Amino acid sequence: MRLYQKFLDGVPEYLARYYWWAYLWRGSIWFFDHQPVINTILFGQYGKLLKKTLAQAERNPAAKILQLTCVYGKFTPSLLSCTGGEMHLCDAASGQLQLAWRKTRHAAERCHFARMNAESLGYRNDAFDQVIVFFLFHEMPAGARHNAYAEIARVVRPGGSVLITEYAAAPLRHWLYRIAPFRWLLGRLEPFLPNFWQEDVAAKLSGALKKNDKALAGEPGIEHCFAGFYRIMQFNLATH
Ligand SMILES: C[S@@+](CC[C@H](N)C(=O)[O-])C[C@H]1O[C@@H](n2cnc3c(N)ncnc32)[C@H](O)[C@@H]1O
Repeated sequence: MRLYQKFLDGVPEYLARYYWWAYLWRGSIWFFDHQPVINTILFGQYGKLLKKTLAQAERNPAAKILQLTCVYGKFTPSLLSCTGGEMHLCDAASGQLQLAWRKTRHAAERCHFARMNAESLGYRNDAFDQVIVFFLFHEMPAGARHNAYAEIARVVRPGGSVLITEYAAAPLRHWLYRIAPFRWLLGRLEPFLPNFWQEDVAAKLSGALKKNDKALAGEPGIEHCFAGFYRIMQFNLATH
């Protein structure tokens, strides 16, 4: 048995195979959840990305928000503190859900956890006013991403929004990207990132919405961070 197969405990195969060392092994969950560690992985940009993402979060206390998969660091408790509504958080890994649960006890009555695959969500159609996705897509193979777009498009309501914080499109002129060994290393650690760099996120989401008889209301709002290496994308849906 290969080492990663020991982590195949109801999680997607790619997650166990490529990311057991980051999200599934108990030691790594402890290690990566330290703020300086996660900030280093994001080249010191965690604070800025957090602030810019939270600035776009739905503030209406009547709103229902889905955070699609867990995130290391203070993202989830900060999101709960700045929004007043009901929040749902799902992830395929039980260790990640337990970690998030321990960090959100201050708002336990409005934070709901579920173990789910982002490719096949157990929520009803149009269930959420906002779906927030923080650095998930680049860690999924193209087929899994396709399924996740479809599920996001299904569960977000017309007139709602989708907030995606991610790597920007291939940042050809960024100094880090131009360092070939760095690009190689990042591609080894994040094997689906090179493919994600080429993806037209707006077109993918728009296509998925169309299949659900929904549409975007105008162009997405895009803010860049770290000289165009990362981006925060806000997609508003038409009311019908
Ligand atoms: C949001 S992403 C990356 C977060 C980012 N690196 C950070 O922590 O700042 C990582 C999470 O996605 C989860 N995940 C990956 N693929 C998934 C899937 N198909 N369904 C549900 N959760 C998934 C992993 O278990 C992990 O908790």
